[in-house]
Amino acid sequence: MQIAKPLSAEDCQVQAMADASPIKWHLAHTTWFFETFLLGAHSRGYKPLNEAYKYLFNSYYNGVGDKHPRPERGLLSRPSLEDVLDYRAYIDTHFEPWLTAQGTERNDIVDLVLLGFNHEQQHQELMLTDLKYMLSVNPLTPIYAHNAALPLSATQAMTWLKPSAGLVDIGFDQTSRNAGDFCFDNELPRHQALLHPYQIASRLATNAEYLEFMNDGGYRDHALWLADGWDWVQRNGISSPLYWRGNEAGAKTFTLRGELPLDLSAPVSHVSFFEADAFARWTGARLPTEFEWEHAAASVPLEQAHGALWQWTASAYLPYPGFSPARGAVGEYNGKFMNGQYVLRGSSVATPVSHGRNSYRNFFQPDKRWQFTGIRLAK
Ligand SMILES: [Fe+2]
Repeated sequence: MQIAKPLSAEDCQVQAMADASPIKWHLAHTTWFFETFLLGAHSRGYKPLNEAYKYLFNSYYNGVGDKHPRPERGLLSRPSLEDVLDYRAYIDTHFEPWLTAQGTERNDIVDLVLLGFNHEQQHQELMLTDLKYMLSVNPLTPIYAHNAALPLSATQAMTWLKPSAGLVDIGFDQTSRNAGDFCFDNELPRHQALLHPYQIASRLATNAEYLEFMNDGGYRDHALWLADGWDWVQRNGISSPLYWRGNEAGAKTFTLRGELPLDLSAPVSHVSFFEADAFARWTGARLPTEFEWEHAAASVPLEQAHGALWQWTASAYLPYPGFSPARGAVGEYNGKFMNGQYVLRGSSVATPVSHGRNSYRNFFQPDKRWQFTGIRLAK
């Protein structure tokens, strides 16, 4: 609700591209999650405010029934923003007394409530991501907030760190779990991975470094790109990261604070996996695997591991050995997306602080770059 506060009802309506969702939809869908998986499933006598919302605000849960098509979320001028806010209030009114009455005996309910909170945190980040894109396509270069957080520059000079190699533990550690600690099912089971000796950059790649790649003809040299990446560059006429306005040192970038001069010391942001991979190849390095990243974050002082930008890894998004999705419709949360995507590690300036952890596995298709993504090198 606070994230939506600086926006008008018109701002909350727009769906600027198929990948993004209107802010109004995020507000409704996050409350739909609590209604569907908790009140609707477990609260006897609960009556929905509007039966149609079950369909309108279902994102991708086939186990729940049909859903409104994602690319058409922006066409939902009804329900109004006011109606959606009433929907949220209705769920809150029913949810809080019901939850209080449950106590903490029912582990299945506690788990679903924690999932609902973490789901809502994910959508808080998605709201910032989507509204940034939505404002960026407006020629008036709107400002979301004058004090919006920007990814911070590193404070230390870049060095190559050498974490230990060999067999290392990967995944969320449930043995040291405290009450309220949470992980998604895709971070389990904890297992061992074999790391060959490697080095990892102490900080993220900067705009200055990325500009060197551009000035050296990085976007025009097919030899630096994966085949799909080169096709993507050609087909879309790509010549800079997503929010750059121009492709030279004096360029401006679009931010949540509106248009700002390019900060050369800031980490390069809003790049696709293809761009991260090509840049890494140009430097003579590579992207880390997700296992190298996780082990490094736990054992050597990585700057900007969290709170700056999500970091593309070279790892395909696959199940860990022995992975089993949660039971019921929420089992669709992660497992069914394990094809055609790459893992990103860390967390970004848009991620709620309590949401970041070293075992967290974010994932996107390799051409996506509206998320707060960046580059950390390895070799
Ligand atoms: Fe969702």
